[in-house]
Amino acid sequence: MKSDLAIFGGAPVIPAGMIKPWPPIDELDRQYVLSSLEGTVHSFGPNCVELEKEFAAWNGNKYAITTNSGTAALHMAVAACGCGAGDEVIVPAYSWSSSATCVLHHNCLPVFVDIDWPTMNIDVEKIEAAITEKTKAIIVVHLHGLTVNMEKVLGLARKYNLKVIEDACQAHGATFKGKKAGLWGDCAAFSFNQNKCLCSGEGGMLVTDDEAINQAARMVWSFGETRTPVETRDYHAYALGWMYRNNDLTAAFGRSQLKKLDRYLAAQKENAAVLLEELKDIPGLILPVEPAGHGHNWYNFTVRVEPEAAGYQGQPDEFRDRVMQALQAEGVPVGVYQRFILPRMTVFQARNAYGHGCPWECVHARKIFYRPEDFPVAERHARNHFGLTYPLRLPNGPEVAEKIGEAFRKVFDNVAFLQDIPVKT
Ligand SMILES: Cc1ncc(COP(=O)(O)O)c(C=O)c1O
Repeated sequence: MKSDLAIFGGAPVIPAGMIKPWPPIDELDRQYVLSSLEGTVHSFGPNCVELEKEFAAWNGNKYAITTNSGTAALHMAVAACGCGAGDEVIVPAYSWSSSATCVLHHNCLPVFVDIDWPTMNIDVEKIEAAITEKTKAIIVVHLHGLTVNMEKVLGLARKYNLKVIEDACQAHGATFKGKKAGLWGDCAAFSFNQNKCLCSGEGGMLVTDDEAINQAARMVWSFGETRTPVETRDYHAYALGWMYRNNDLTAAFGRSQLKKLDRYLAAQKENAAVLLEELKDIPGLILPVEPAGHGHNWYNFTVRVEPEAAGYQGQPDEFRDRVMQALQAEGVPVGVYQRFILPRMTVFQARNAYGHGCPWECVHARKIFYRPEDFPVAERHARNHFGLTYPLRLPNGPEVAEKIGEAFRKVFDNVAFLQDIPVKT
C-alpha cells in the first residue's frame, strides 16, 4: 500500500539512531590523540614518522609518505613519476575529480578512457587506443574498493614504457590475485579522509617500493627540500615543492585507527555479503560484482537501477532519485557518488586551468578536447547508480545490513507509487 512507504507517512523500516556513524571511536583513539596533544610537536611529528612505518608495514610497501590528503599524494605521484608539461596521463572517465585534476596540477593533460559496466572501473581493453607518443602514465582508480585488473594494465605499461599510479584512495585492503592495492603500480595514493576505510579526519599516504620515486615525492611534499622536518634541514628549495605534510594529531588518530583496520575490513566484507544476499533477485536492481581474482573491500556498496525491469515508466536518473528518496525516508542513508562524469566537468570543458588556456594551450601539448559522448558507459553509470558506505561498517553489524535489505525490498515492492514522489531539483 502507498501509505506503507515512509515517504508517504508509513513507519520507517530503520528506526532513527539504529545506524551508527563512522568511524567508531574508542579508548585507544583517545589515548593516541591526547598523548599527541600533550606532546611538544604538533606539526610533522613522531606520530607522522610512526604512521609512515606502520602503514608501509601494513600494506607491504617499502616507503610511505604521510600527506594532508589523498589528492596531495596523487599530485606527488604524478610529479614523482616524471610527468611534466604537455605529457598525457590516462585516467578513467568516471572517478573523483582529483583523480584527474592531480594531472593538471603538474601541467599535464588528462586523457580519459571509458569505464567497464560490470566493474565500474577503467575499461582496461580501451586503454591502448588512448596511448599516444605523449603518454607518460596511467592512473588506475580502484573505485568503490574494487581493484582494476592490474595484470592487463602492467602489460600495457611494459609495452609502452609507462608509469602506473594507483589511486587507492578508496581501496585499503582491496586485492587483485591476492596482492593488495598499492603494491602493483609504481606508486599509489591512499586517502584517510572522513569517509575512507581508514579515517584520520583528513589525510593520505603515498606508497611506493621505488627509491627514486620516494625521493622525488618527498621533494614535492615539503617545499622542494630533500630532508624531512625531523632531519637537519637546509631550507633550500631544490625543486618546485608544495606543503603536503601531515600533522601529528591527525597522524596519531590515523595510527589508532590503523590498529583496527583489519577488523573494520572484515566486518565490511561480512556486512556486504549479507546485503548482497538480501538484495538478490530484486527486479530492476543491479548488484555490485566481485569478479574472480578481485578482492573487494566494499568501501562503497554501489547498485544500478533498470527502471523498465522494475516496472517503472521513466528515465533512469528520475527513477534512481525517487528510489533514493523513498529509501532515505525508510532510514537508509543512500547517496549518489558522482552525478557527472569527469570529461563533463567544467574544469575540463573550459580547458583553462591556469589562465590563457593552460595547460591545454601549452606549446608542448597536443590538442585535446573532451566529448562526453565518447564515454557512453560512464554516462550511463552516472545516471543509474547510487550507493551507501558507513551503514555497512562497524559498529554496524549484519542486523543493520538485513534491515537495509528489508527497506530496499519494501521500496521495490511499491514501485507503482514512486511516480508520486516529487523529484528534488
Ligand atoms: C577515488 C578517489 N580519489 C581521490 C580522492 C581524494 O582524496 P582526498 O579527499 O583525501 O584528497 C578520493 C576521496 O575523496 C577518492 O575517492
